[in-house]
Amino acid sequence: MAETTVQEVLEALNLITGGRVITGQQETGDGRNPYVILKTSHIPGKEVMETPGLVYGDPAMPVKKLAVVMTMTESVVELAAASGVDALVVHHPVADAASCGGVPLKDYLHHYRLAVFELHEAFHGLHPGIALLHGHMPVHIDVCFGGTSGNVVIVGKPLAGISCLKDILARLELMMGQDRDVLLLEAEKRIYQVTDLQEINAMEGGSIINGNPDNEVGLILHCFPHTGFCPADLDRILEMYPEIKTVITSISRVRKNHPLIDTCRLKGLNLVAGNSHALEIWENGLPLAYALQAILSDIEVVIFRERVTSYPLAGAGNEPLRHYARQMAEKYLLPQRYTGK
Ligand SMILES: [Fe+2]
Ligand SMILES: [Fe+2]
Repeated sequence: MAETTVQEVLEALNLITGGRVITGQQETGDGRNPYVILKTSHIPGKEVMETPGLVYGDPAMPVKKLAVVMTMTESVVELAAASGVDALVVHHPVADAASCGGVPLKDYLHHYRLAVFELHEAFHGLHPGIALLHGHMPVHIDVCFGGTSGNVVIVGKPLAGISCLKDILARLELMMGQDRDVLLLEAEKRIYQVTDLQEINAMEGGSIINGNPDNEVGLILHCFPHTGFCPADLDRILEMYPEIKTVITSISRVRKNHPLIDTCRLKGLNLVAGNSHALEIWENGLPLAYALQAILSDIEVVIFRERVTSYPLAGAGNEPLRHYARQMAEKYLLPQRYTGK
C-alpha cells in the first residue's frame, strides 16, 4: 500500500475545512483566501500571518505519525522528534523563531525532518463543540463579529437538562475531566515536595461570576473576551437577541474589573466563566484529530497536550540545580553589590 504523504494530509485538511486551506492554486496573502490573516497588535516586528495549510515540509514526504497540537514550541518540536512524529498540525499560528526555540523554523524542522501545518481561524466555526460542551446548541455563529477576524460570537439555546446555571457547571465538570488534572497536580506536589505548585489545567474550571446557581439559563450568548469582545458588542447582540439571559465567557476569562462584569450585572444578565484556553486542545484539537484519523486511516494520530506548572523559586529544580543556578547568578550575572561578596 502506498504511504500517506504530506500532500495527502493537506488534502485531508482541505476536505475537513470545506476548502479553506491554501492549496497549490492559491498564493499566500494574495487576498483570495479570507483565512490568510495578518494578526498584529502593531508592536513593531511582532505580527504574524496565519497561512492555513502547509507551513513547512516536502509534499512528497511520507507521514506515518501525526500530532495535533495547540501551540508549537521548542518542547513540541522536541517531543515530535523524540516520539517519531513526522507531521504536526498546529492550531495557533506558527511564527519564525517564536514557535521553535528562537531559531529560524526551517533550520529546526529540516534538522528533524518535520512537516508543519497550521489551521486556526480556518478551523473556527466548523463545528459547534465548544457550545455543546458548555451546554447549548448554537442558533447563530459569527466568527468575525463587528468585522473583527477571530471575534467569535455564538448565540445558543440550552440543551435538554440545562435549565439553571449550576447545570452548566455540572456539564463542564462531567465533560472536561479536570478531576484527573487535580489529582495529577497533587501527585506532582508530593513528588517534588512543593506544596504551592500551580497548573492551569487543574486550576480553573467553570464558575459563576454574576447570578445564583439556581438562576434560569435562558438564551445564551457565548463570547471569547480575548478576541476583542467588548460591552459595545454585547449591546449589539442584545439588540439582535433581547431574550438573552446568560453570558458565557470561555477560552479567556473575565477577571476582577473587566467591564463585561459590571455591564452584565447592570443589565441583569447571568455571567458564567467556562473553560480556559488551556482546554482548547480538548474542545478543538480532539475533534480535528478524530477527523484526520478517519480520513488518514493508515497513519497514527496523537494529541500533544501542554501542561505548564508554576514553581516557587525555592522549590524549582533539585538542590544541585539550585546550587548551580545561584552560582551562575552570583558569579556571572550580578554586580557585586547584589552578591554581598
Ligand atoms: Fe481556537
Ligand atoms: Fe486558541
